[in-house]
Amino acid sequence: MKSKSKLITHTNSLNTKTPLNFSGGFESSQSALMRFPLIADNPLELILDKVFCRIDNFLSVKANLFLKIEGFNPAGSIKIKPAIRMLEALEERGEISPGYSHIIESSSGNLGVAVSLACSIKGYSFTCISDPNISLRNEQYIKLFGAELVIVKNKDENGGFLNSRINLIKRLIEENDHFFWLNQYANTDNKNAHYLSTAPSIFESFPEIDYLFVGAGTTGTLMGCAEYIRNNNLKTKIIAIDVLGSVTFDFPASKRYIPGLGTSRKPELVDKSLIDDLVLVKEEDTIKMCRELLRKKALLVGGSTGTVLAGIKAYAHKLDTAKNIVVISPDFGDRYLDTIYDDQWVSERFPSSRW
Ligand SMILES: Cc1ncc(COP(=O)(O)O)c(C=O)c1O
Repeated sequence: MKSKSKLITHTNSLNTKTPLNFSGGFESSQSALMRFPLIADNPLELILDKVFCRIDNFLSVKANLFLKIEGFNPAGSIKIKPAIRMLEALEERGEISPGYSHIIESSSGNLGVAVSLACSIKGYSFTCISDPNISLRNEQYIKLFGAELVIVKNKDENGGFLNSRINLIKRLIEENDHFFWLNQYANTDNKNAHYLSTAPSIFESFPEIDYLFVGAGTTGTLMGCAEYIRNNNLKTKIIAIDVLGSVTFDFPASKRYIPGLGTSRKPELVDKSLIDDLVLVKEEDTIKMCRELLRKKALLVGGSTGTVLAGIKAYAHKLDTAKNIVVISPDFGDRYLDTIYDDQWVSERFPSSRW
């Protein structure tokens, strides 16, 4: 890789393969964290790929349950890794260069924010194509990082905006030869980011993992981890969690409100043969789980983390013999204060639900 901001798979700060455990109390946690300074040359180098939080006595499983925390990453989510990898792969192939190429992508969520940050640091102009469902926060982040945000308002033949967004991108790349579409749903460098970084970070941190639970959006995270498990002959079972109403695994489409997981058009990246099992979760259960985690564990997690944990709860009867379970937590709940954590928003959309 050419640039310094490549994805680095860190060993932990003590350079051991054993996770650093903060069981000695807050004071010792602090001193352990402060033992070695972490000095980056730019925000893209601040990817913290080996941060885990154990959750005890929460789900009805005896196994150790570790949340892999991605919310501390630059731009606040796991998506900074595919954003960087997709750009750097294009650079390595000589297809884009800073100051000349213009990046374009369809996103209303974390990827749009992550690409905005990565493009700003690397010197690319960026247009993010979105729709009126984008949250105010993401709109603000994308603009603050200097990207252009285009909100598509015309609905497509399915009554949604996805095809309108894609059609606009196709027209723009046809008209402008210096425009490059990242196309995260089909781009193999999306899953490669997780194959090169997320997955090794998990398996280098724990000697034996019985189950890895991963939420499915573009399926980049899921497929990158699944390929890593297959290619390294690991015994770990990988369980996909999707949301009810998503078409990724060939179930019927229905209205969904929470961003991150689920699709209305099947991602090109998905390969069902690489996963061991699938759990579908209702959005009401996502909301209940997010709020329960906050109440009982003071953990403010994002929607997809709540979905995955709700999925594990439903799957718990199959986890009797498991010793170690890892769950990927793609972002924190601060992005969902005006949705999942807002009583009015929830009661308007899920009137019969108690949370
Ligand atoms: C919060 C959150 N969780 C999960 C995902 C799904 O990850 P992937 O697209 O790799 O399937 C995303 C994707 O944008 C996300 O933003």
